[in-house]
Formats: sequence, C-alpha cells, structure tokens
Amino acid sequence: MPGTVVLGAQWGDEGKGKITDLLADRMDLVVRFSGGNNAGHTIVCGNDEFKLHLIPSGILYPHITTVIGNGVVVNPKVLLEEMDSLHKRGIPTKKLKISCNAHLVMPYHMALDRLGEVSLGKAKLGTTHRGIGPAYADKAERLGLRVQDLLDEKILRTKLESALERKNAILAKAFGQETFDADEIVDEYMGYAERLAPHIDDTSLLLERAFEEGKRVLFEGAQGTLLDLDHGTYPFVTSSSPTIGGVFTGAGVGPRHIEKIIGVAKAYVTRVGYGPFPTEQENDAGEMMGERGAEIGTTTGRKRRCGWLDVVLLRYAARVNGLTCIALTKLDVLSAFERLRICVGYSYQGKVYHDFPPHQTIFHKCVPEYLEIPGWGEEISGAKKKEELPDQALKYIGFVEQAAGVPVDVVSVGPGRTQTVWMREGIEPPKLEEGPYLNLEEFEPPNAG
Ligand code: GDP
Ligand code: IMO
Ligand code: MG
Repeated sequence: MPGTVVLGAQWGDEGKGKITDLLADRMDLVVRFSGGNNAGHTIVCGNDEFKLHLIPSGILYPHITTVIGNGVVVNPKVLLEEMDSLHKRGIPTKKLKISCNAHLVMPYHMALDRLGEVSLGKAKLGTTHRGIGPAYADKAERLGLRVQDLLDEKILRTKLESALERKNAILAKAFGQETFDADEIVDEYMGYAERLAPHIDDTSLLLERAFEEGKRVLFEGAQGTLLDLDHGTYPFVTSSSPTIGGVFTGAGVGPRHIEKIIGVAKAYVTRVGYGPFPTEQENDAGEMMGERGAEIGTTTGRKRRCGWLDVVLLRYAARVNGLTCIALTKLDVLSAFERLRICVGYSYQGKVYHDFPPHQTIFHKCVPEYLEIPGWGEEISGAKKKEELPDQALKYIGFVEQAAGVPVDVVSVGPGRTQTVWMREGIEPPKLEEGPYLNLEEFEPPNAG
C-alpha cells in the first residue's frame, strides 16, 4: 500500500507544504485533491523560498509527477502564472498532470465571492476572494465548467452561456454590478487551453496505473480539518473536503491504497479569516507567536490569528481523518515562552467538554480549560535529532501524543528542510507519567466527559 496522505489538522497553514516537500523525496507522484488557489504552501530550501497555490509541493523534485486531481478547482490563469514563475526559477513543470474532471474557477466566481462577503456584512467569513465557494457551489449545482471543456470550444461556449444566464442575472439584479461577456471569457480561456492541453489527463486512471506499478504516491492536503465543509466550524469553513474523504473523491482512488495518514499540526494554533477560535490570544502571547512564527497569510498577506495548542481539536482531527501519525510543526516558535498552555477541554454552562462539542454555541462561547507547563527556555531550531531536544520539549511532544492518541513521528523546528527531527528511529516516545509538571491529575483522560 504505497499511498501516504498529508492533511491539515487545524485551520490550515500548519506547514503541509514543508512536510509534503520533505516526504516527496521518497515518492513518485504528489497529488493535490481539494481546494484551489486559496491554498498557500511554502517550501524553504536553502536560501530559496517557494510559495505554491495550485501546483503540488512535489514539483521541486525533477523525478516527481505532480497531479492536480478532479476535486481541485482550477483557476487556469493562476495556474499558468505559477508554472511560468517556476520555469523562471529553473523548475520544470512538464510532468504536471491536470484532471480532465477538475472544475474551473471563472471570473464571475471571483466577483461573486467578493460580493457575497460584502452582502454578509458583519457575518462575513473572511474568504480569500479567490472564487472558491462560488466555484464549488456551481459544481454542486451542476452549472460548472470543467478542465476538459477547455478542449472543445463549442462545449465551453455552450456551458458558459448557460451559466452566464444565471450569473449575470444575479450580478445585475441582486448586486447592481456589471455583467460578464461570453465572447471575452471564451477568448481568454481558449488561450489558456492551448497551453494547458498537454497536461490534461484522466488522472484517476493515471494513479491506478501508478499504484499497479508499485509507485509511491503522496496526497497533499490543502486547508485543514476545521475548515472542512462537513467537519469544520461551519459556516466559517472553505467549500471543499480537506479531510480524508476528500482524497478518495478528489483524486478518484480507493482507500485500499492508503497506508499512512499524517496530520500536520502546529505546536500552537493559527486561523486566518473569521470564526470561533477558543484558544485565541489577543494579547502579548498571541503577538509573540505571530512574530516568531511569521504568521502572515501566504495567499492573502493577512495577519493570522494565534492561540495556544488545543488538543481537543487535535483529537477531533485524529478521529475524523483516522490519522496514523502527527507531524508537529513550528515547535521552535514556543521556545520564547517561560510557561506554555495547552487547552485540554472546553467549559460551558458547568460542563467540561473533552470532545469537539456537538453544538456550535458551545464552541463559540466556551472557556478553554488549560494545563500550564514550563517551557524549555532555549532555542531548538538547530535540533536534528530527538536527543537534541530539551526534556521539556519532549514532554510537550509526548503530551500531544497522549492527548491526541496518535504518535508524533515528525517534529519541525524551523522552515528549512533540515530543521526537522524524525522521532521514530527506534526511539520510544517519552512516558508522560514520569513528569509531575504536566499536572496530569487535573487532566481528565481523553475519553472522559
Ligand atoms: P501550509 O499552508 O500548511 O503549507 O503552511 P504555510 O506554508 O501557509 O505556512 C507555514 C509557514 O511556516 C511557512 O512560512 C513555512 O515556511 C513555515 N514553517 C513550516 N514549518 C516551520 C517550523 O517548524 N518552524 C518555523 N519557524 N516555521 C515553519
Ligand atoms: P492552506 O492550504 C488557511 C480560509 C479563509 C477563510 C475560509 C474560507 O494554505 O492551509 P475560501 O477562500 O476558501 O472560501 O475561504 O477558509 N482558508 C484558509 N486558511 N490556510 C488555507 O489554505 C486556507 N484556505 C482557505 O481564510 O477563513
Ligand atoms: Mg498556507
């Protein structure tokens, strides 16, 4: 079973790009299966930094075939710009494959995304304005245009005219805005078609063949579990399925191929856009996380909201995705803190919830129950081996493992490729019972409550 999945375990920006890039070295194919150019995945190698929005993070290795699966919504203009910018830096994109069934992001999707946000007023979501919600809505409404439509101008035009009938009516009547012209869009998109045609393929079949040949395939998630349309903090979510189910529908593969499901989690939590965030720190602690972690959105340049690690959410991500391990990132950011807090439950109206609460009001209004532990008081960004991490950092990692019920296989201590500690080369994880500082008496075991 040579399939590995990398998923976001929080609200996105956990460091999926870095982890994907690290693992891609030993893969043959890297596949995006959901989201669109709302994603922003950063890879740092040496002095070079790459920010990818649509192209899978495996692109930096010449041996890798990168695949944009059918579950992705593709803005062809952005995709071509990304390909061009990689070419300029000497990275070939010849081996990029795009599913013929992926849906296209159209200019009216971006307009409707912006207008939708304005019309929501104070209740707005803080979307990336990349047209993602409207593109997935059209897919569900069976009004979408697909990548394969680029290969037949007549079909493209017919579908576009039909979509525009409705879209232009909404734009003009509901929002009093300018409408879109079918000819202009056809011209623009046929230009993209010419360049993208060699990359368009039946990627489900391509993946099946790869598996048959024993090739190793990595599925690179975008966004995160709490942004999932079904399992996230609805309505403050994205419009796709960044959780495990999205791999199967979004790539057209079956679960029997999957061996490992890696949840990427920051050692604290960040969120971009609006919506509930129980452990958010709108104070010096949050500022310090933001500064040390350079928490500025890769796609929109917005400041990310920051807060303490929340193991209730991690356990939820482990459950919803069936995680087999966690990659814990940005542990180095916490080195500056004398004391650290970890949220182990939510208190609401006299009850403490240790599982993700069943009603949104509880999540919106709860007070986090924290466990406070001493920090490790030294920089760790040079650590390369488990033995080079301070005891207190190992306790923190061990606590995450125990609380989430999933081993932490990888710890990231900086953005660079080498700033990574592989935890599992014959080394046992620390036993929590050994240290009193975690104050386990006050921590109800995960399955209680
Ligand atoms: P993604 O969307 O999940 O791929 O994450 P982003 O790339 O949007 O955001 C993660 C940011 O943290 C990027 O700028 C990474 O270079 C950086 N990063 C990743 N891992 C680490 C780490 O362990 N420590 C630090 N300090 N930065 C990291
Ligand atoms: P990566 O892959 C963080 C957030 C937006 C907004 C909400 C809905 O880099 O982790 P959308 O434009 O998708 O309709 O916006 O989802 N969001 C992300 N936040 N990382 C991302 O991707 C995100 N993609 C979408 O900020 O709150
Ligand atoms: Mg990101």
